[in-house]
Amino acid sequence: MKKYAVAIVGATGLVGQEFIKVLEQRRFPMSSVRLCASDRSAGKRIFVNHTEVEVQETSSRSFEHIDIALFSAGADISKHFALVAAKAGAVVVDNSSAWRMDAEVPLVVPEVNPDDVAWHKGIVANPNCSTIQMVVALNPLHQVNPIKRIVVDTYQSVSGIGSVAIEELSTQSKQVLEGKNTAPHVLPHQIAFNLLPEIDVFLDNGYTKEEWKMVKETQKIMHAEEIAISATCVRVPVYIGHSEAISVEFTHPIAPDEARRILADAPGVKVLDDPTVSLYPHPWAAAGSDDVFVGRIRADNSHPLGLAMWVVADNIRKGAALNAVQIAEVLVERGLV
Ligand SMILES: NC(=O)c1ccc[n+]([C@@H]2O[C@H](COP(=O)([O-])OP(=O)(O)OC[C@H]3O[C@@H](n4cnc5c(N)ncnc54)[C@H](OP(=O)(O)O)[C@@H]3O)[C@@H](O)[C@H]2O)c1
Repeated sequence: MKKYAVAIVGATGLVGQEFIKVLEQRRFPMSSVRLCASDRSAGKRIFVNHTEVEVQETSSRSFEHIDIALFSAGADISKHFALVAAKAGAVVVDNSSAWRMDAEVPLVVPEVNPDDVAWHKGIVANPNCSTIQMVVALNPLHQVNPIKRIVVDTYQSVSGIGSVAIEELSTQSKQVLEGKNTAPHVLPHQIAFNLLPEIDVFLDNGYTKEEWKMVKETQKIMHAEEIAISATCVRVPVYIGHSEAISVEFTHPIAPDEARRILADAPGVKVLDDPTVSLYPHPWAAAGSDDVFVGRIRADNSHPLGLAMWVVADNIRKGAALNAVQIAEVLVERGLV
């Protein structure tokens, strides 16, 4: 079996560390791995497949003789170095927002639009974490009964911002329990014991950029610009796992049981839905899992063509590292590397 030289940019971060775990767990065919981060981490040593690898500062030479480059070091790094890597002959799978809405760059969730990898020109974009879990849950229903409108409220964990936000939640929680004052550094206000309806910057239309990503990325991935979408994205004091309350309007009526049957057979989805025993997904239990979990499926009593549901996934795995590695697997399977 052919093996591939892999580079990870942002290897010391939350997503970068998960890349390493997922590559190991899925036995990705690697001939070598190069770990890149900022100059702060150069010289650190990290185990990959039981071998110690030294972290290098990311530079224009980082991509020589690399087949696949997995990027997770923020949009600014991706904007510059993804082009450098692609020019050097690597195929980039980029986790940042830098390339997602570029018409020349496929935006891929392997359970939904794997065929889009075929038109890559050196970069494939990994969608936003909250978008990924929503399209994995909704696309199987859309294939049977086209979706006309989605209204989604998210409950997003602090790990979506990175390791610094995890520390901020821990520090502030301790301070609140000890009766001390807190000071926000990464988030706009105190996140401990609080909820913040502000993820990314506010746009002129009143939505945040995160909310707008959910609209535009969903339409691009599902090839369905006609779907009307409204999102409210909320940061919650949870370490790992994003949750979403989703109301969907279909073209034809659909019974909750039919939706459960369709989703039970859908790739990457696990239905957990039995209110009689309080069975539904929640982020504490979903953390560390690969699946997108769906529960609380019910008829929307405000609309004859509507369903409401609750969708939860690990934002670091399916929302980031796992989805990116799955894209790399599709590239390999189809001989596109
Ligand atoms: N967490 C999620 O749920 C999620 C989901 C989807 C997408 N993403 C995206 O993935 C990216 C990283 O997220 P994260 O959660 O892993 O953040 P993180 O824990 O803060 O890690 C950031 C990584 O980027 C590296 N980095 C920072 N500045 C750099 C530079 N100048 N040159 C090279 N590397 C640099 C850091 O290296 P040092 O250790 O050397 O500083 C570290 O490896 C972000 O773009 C984020 O939006 C995150």
